[in-house]
Amino acid sequence: MKVSVIGSGYVGTVTAACFAELGHNVVCIDIDPEKVDMINRGKPPIYEEGLEELLNKHVGKNIRATTDYDDAVTNTDISFICVGTPSDDNGNIDLGIVKAASQSLGSAIGKKDGYHVVVVKSTVVPETTEKVVVPIIEQASGRKPGVDFGAGMNPEFLREGKAVHDFMHPDKIVIGAIDQRSDDTISALYAGLKCQIKHTCQITHTDPGTAEMIKYVNNSFLATKISFSNEIGNICKKMGIDTYKVMEAVGKDSRISPNFLNSGAGFGGSCFPKDVKALIGKAKELGYEPGLLESVINVNEVQPLMMIDLLESCTGDLGGKRIAVLGLAFKNDTDDIRESRSIPVIRALLDKGAKVSSYDPMAADNMKAIYPDIEYCDSAIHALKGANGCLVMTEWDEFKGLCSEFKVMRRPLVVDGRNMIQCEDIEYVGLCW
Ligand code: UDX
Repeated sequence: MKVSVIGSGYVGTVTAACFAELGHNVVCIDIDPEKVDMINRGKPPIYEEGLEELLNKHVGKNIRATTDYDDAVTNTDISFICVGTPSDDNGNIDLGIVKAASQSLGSAIGKKDGYHVVVVKSTVVPETTEKVVVPIIEQASGRKPGVDFGAGMNPEFLREGKAVHDFMHPDKIVIGAIDQRSDDTISALYAGLKCQIKHTCQITHTDPGTAEMIKYVNNSFLATKISFSNEIGNICKKMGIDTYKVMEAVGKDSRISPNFLNSGAGFGGSCFPKDVKALIGKAKELGYEPGLLESVINVNEVQPLMMIDLLESCTGDLGGKRIAVLGLAFKNDTDDIRESRSIPVIRALLDKGAKVSSYDPMAADNMKAIYPDIEYCDSAIHALKGANGCLVMTEWDEFKGLCSEFKVMRRPLVVDGRNMIQCEDIEYVGLCW
């Protein structure tokens, strides 16, 4: 099939490259000529494992990029909207970019002969596809939904860093279409995929609002598991019970599963905090107080600061003390620091007058934009040298091997926010254990 993909960020570029890998003919549309140029040279505008290889394999054959909506839409049968949905000041999502993309897409559809399908892949609150995107396209194109154009919502469940793998081996595919013809067109795109868990990976066919809700509930549930585990961990700690042992056993219940029960510094990233807040915002708009979801966010905000309390309980006043922060990215294998739990931790350390020495294999340059004046080291051992304490913030594999390195600290004291340090002769304080 001929597919156009609007937006060349994480979701758009991965979607485009993976559809090309599945044998479709893909055109990427982006308003930024630099990104367009990069894709046409086989260079992804963002880093994702395996993405550059896929782009190089298909560029010049069945994938290209353009800034021209008319050209892309005229030459394709279906367009995916994969643009950003940032949060506004109240945590609600800002649909400005989705609306602008819909406007441009609608006007291009108006110039095209024949049927076209529009699919929203951006994460949007329920009702957005049918009440915002479709009406804009209808008005801008002068065409009728369900007659001249089809529409649907097809959420992504891609983990950053593993997005290409997740796209090619999904646990599930959700298609919320406005009618059968749209559903058939979108479903046909995924025909070549092998599923991760065969018995669950049938396509869920539904309406757009339900598909939008599935995405929010998926992320909110995972975030809830983490905040729940953190709360249990905090209670266990007060009683000297090993929460990881507790959760290991609890996770063996097939109704629960062992994943996302790892307590520690809390969750960050571009999705969990934003999506839970957007669902809270939508619930409140409808007159419902979502107490549980609010608690999920509250636990997550307090959690990293508990690391500071623990540290202080061991070192005393942090004023003038050198504290090593290991890990700045919101999780391992990415340079992304959005909502990283290191951000509030470094803020609190600085407010208390500590000197921060940090190390992250990928994310230091990004953190410099927020904290230009802390020390950025080129290895863990440099960050640890002479430190009075260390906070482990990100689950980087290389931190698992640290043990002798902690001995270069003035006081080998480690507060582990990711449950990954197991060393004999250091003063080790698990956040939740
Ligand atoms: C997440 C979802 O997994 C993905 O399906 C969705 O589409 C986008 O959001 P991502 O943000 O890339 O993906 O990261 P993920 O690997 O899910 O981790 C999110 C955060 O939770 C990280 O900060 C991680 O450290 C934290 N986490 C994860 C925990 O604190 N405990 C856990 O048990 C698991």
